[in-house]
Amino acid sequence: MSALVEVGGLHFRYGSGRPAPGADWTLADISLSLQQGATLGIVGESGSGKSTLIRLMCGLLAPSSGTLAFDGRPVADWLRDDRRAFLARNQIVFQNPRRSLDPRMTVARAMAEPVRALDRREPARAELIDSLSRVGLPAEFLDHHPHQLSGGQLQRVAIARALSVRPAVLYADEPTSALDVSVQAQVLNLLMDLRESLGLALVMVTHNLAVVARLTETVVVLNRGRIVEAGPTDRVLGAPRNPYTAALVGAALDVSLSRSGGISAGGSTQ
Ligand SMILES: Nc1ncnc2c1ncn2[C@@H]1O[C@H](COP(=O)(O)OP(=O)(O)OP(=O)(O)O)[C@@H](O)[C@H]1O
Ligand SMILES: [Mg+2]
Repeated sequence: MSALVEVGGLHFRYGSGRPAPGADWTLADISLSLQQGATLGIVGESGSGKSTLIRLMCGLLAPSSGTLAFDGRPVADWLRDDRRAFLARNQIVFQNPRRSLDPRMTVARAMAEPVRALDRREPARAELIDSLSRVGLPAEFLDHHPHQLSGGQLQRVAIARALSVRPAVLYADEPTSALDVSVQAQVLNLLMDLRESLGLALVMVTHNLAVVARLTETVVVLNRGRIVEAGPTDRVLGAPRNPYTAALVGAALDVSLSRSGGISAGGSTQ
């Protein structure tokens, strides 16, 4: 089966012009693939390039070199010829829903935006109500403004909004780290349920190893812009082969790798 997303020998650095001699790449020699409906975790310290990598994968940045393909076709070609279809199929949810939703817009307007922009149609109210109910929110929220919702409720809106254009891949960049500990697990459970019911591929960026252990089958470990280890999540976190991965796992000390035991990472859920 050919991969849905294929990244090969990708290099990237920010800015234009000639970089200083010896300057590091922000991302170097990144190769990975993502199958339809699969889950991938991307972990690594702050600044290791996690957000940059998913921004590249969903077409928000262009690689400096290397290959990047979606559904068997270069992302650059998608963006040139079928930009809206590509963006609809590759949606992203960010860390802070208060920053990603316009405070002046009602939830209904915010939710309608991607459908308007990418599907070029006006969604019916019934469709918006359906979208909200899929993330466990009542219809009356449509007429609310973001300040009337909790962080967890807003993140559900952001997820519903991303799903409204029927993506094939949902990228989540630290989707729960701005939320209270008590609602983090609910949002993660929601993501898992949606992934299963919609057959979505899910790419989860986080420095919380417990989240990765719980939600993803495969993980890549980034260190200073390079993949230092990749493989099945249980194996990589359970028996790391790379010293950097081992140090990350060691730092997370009491992370439980039990998928059935829920999130039980002392301190690392912050
Ligand atoms: N817009 C930008 N312009 C220039 N450099 C940037 C930009 N965004 C990020 N960087 C740099 O690229 C590197 C990787 O950043 P990135 O945001 O991808 O890391 P991250 O792994 O997501 O970190 P965090 O866990 O803190 O979110 C960092 O050195 C960062 O300073
Ligand atoms: Mg980041």
